[in-house]
Amino acid sequence: MQKNSNISLSLKQVYNDEYRAFPYPLYHRLRELDPVYWDPELQAWVLTGYNDVVTTLRSPKVSAQRFEIEKEWLPEAFYRQMEPSLRAIARQMLFLDPPDHTRIRGLVAKAFTPRMIERMREHIQQIVDTLLDDVLAKERFNFVEEFTYPLPAIVIAEMLGVPSEDREQFIRWSGDFGTLLEGADLDLEQGMRALYGVQEFIDYFRKMIAQRQLQPRDDLLQALIHAHEGGDKLDEYELLGNCILLLAAGHGTTTELLGNGLYALLTHPDQYMLFQQNPEIASTAVMELLRYDGPVQSTSREVKEDIEIDGKRIQAGSTVVLCLGAASHDPAHFTNPDQLVLDRKENRHLAFGQGIHFCLGAPLARLESEIAFSTLMRRLRNPRLVQEPEWWSGLIFRGMGSLLIEHDV
Ligand code: HEM
Repeated sequence: MQKNSNISLSLKQVYNDEYRAFPYPLYHRLRELDPVYWDPELQAWVLTGYNDVVTTLRSPKVSAQRFEIEKEWLPEAFYRQMEPSLRAIARQMLFLDPPDHTRIRGLVAKAFTPRMIERMREHIQQIVDTLLDDVLAKERFNFVEEFTYPLPAIVIAEMLGVPSEDREQFIRWSGDFGTLLEGADLDLEQGMRALYGVQEFIDYFRKMIAQRQLQPRDDLLQALIHAHEGGDKLDEYELLGNCILLLAAGHGTTTELLGNGLYALLTHPDQYMLFQQNPEIASTAVMELLRYDGPVQSTSREVKEDIEIDGKRIQAGSTVVLCLGAASHDPAHFTNPDQLVLDRKENRHLAFGQGIHFCLGAPLARLESEIAFSTLMRRLRNPRLVQEPEWWSGLIFRGMGSLLIEHDV
C-alpha cells in the first residue's frame, strides 16, 4: 500500500491546546477522514475505529516487541552503563510476544493473583478513609496531589513490600519510566535523564531482592522471587523488569483514572447525582469513567507479516498506532460516545487494551477506583471545581497535573 495520506491532520495534535482538554473531537475527525491512515509526523499507521483496533490487537501478525534503544543514539559509555537496565526493560511482558510473553505473564500472574488483590479490599478502604480524613478537613484541596497520587502508590508499594519512606522516590522513578514509554518527542538529554532514573529504579529492586533472600516476607515481591526460584523461572532481568513494570503501571494509570474520573463527574452534575444516589452502580460507573476518559489513550505494535486492515495492505516492518481512546468513542460501537452515561449497559471499552496483553492489573485498578469513588460520593459535600485542571495529553497517557476543589466542611 502506498503510504500517501490525504489527511493534513496528525494524531500528534493531541498536544495542541485545542484538544488537550478533550481529544475526542480530533479522534472523530481522523476516523471520519480515514479510520486507517498513514501519519507522516509519527511515521506510523494510525487506527481509530473500534473493530480495526480490536482485530489488530488480537492478530498474531503484529508484534509487541517495540522497545528499542539503538546503541548509536546514546554516548557509548552511557549505553554500556545502561545496558543491564535496557535488557530488563526489554524483558517486560508488555514488550514480548509468545512464547516468552505467555511464560512470563503466566509466572507473574501466579504471584499477582485475584485472591491477593481481593485480600486488599479492607485495607484499601482504610487507606482511602485515612487519606480523605486529612483532605476533606480542608475547604480547598488539590485532589491530584493529595489523593490520586498517594493512593495507588501506597497500595502497590504495600503489596510489593516497598518501605513507605522510599515511596516518594519510587514515584519519581516510575515517572521516569513513563517518560521513557511516552518517548516520541524526547531530546537526548531528557531521554538520558529518564534512563538514568530507570537504572536507579532497577538497582533499588536489585538490593531489595538481595535482602529478601536473607529475610523472606509474605508479599508480592516474595511471590515474584518465588516464581524466579521455581522450576520454570523468571531470570534476573525478567524479575527486575517486571517488578518495575508492576510498580510503574500500578501507579500512574490509576492516579490518572481517579483525577480524570472525578473531573468528569464534577462536570456532569446529573451523573454525579445518579452515582451519589445509587452507590451500587460503582462497578459500571468506573467502567464508564474508563471508557469516557481513560488514562491510556493509545498503544502500538510492529507489523511482522503483511496485513490487511479495512481494505488497506500494511507492510511488514510498519508501526501501527492503536488509538484506544478513539476506539472507545467510536459511534459505530457506542451510542452517544461523547456522553458520560454511568449506567451504560453495553460497555466493552478498550481502556485496558485487548487480546493477550490485556491489562494484568485491571482487577486492582477497578477495586481501588470503586472504593475511592464510592467513598468520595459519600463523603464529599457539595464539591466545586475551583478552576479548570492543568491537562497534559500525550500520545499514550492522559491526565492532569492538578485538580483544585472546594467543598463544604
Ligand atoms: C486505570 C488503570 C489502568 C489502565 C487504564 C491500564 C491500562 C493498560 C493497558 C491499555 C494495557 C495494554 C497495553 C498494550 O496492549 O500495549 C495494560 C497492560 C498492563 N497493565 Fe495496566 N492499566 C491500569 C492499571 C494497572 C495496574 C494497577 C497494574 C498492576 C499493578 C497494571 C499492570 C499492567 C501490566 C503488567 C500490563 C502488561 C500486560 C501484558 O503485557 O500482558 N495496570 N494496562
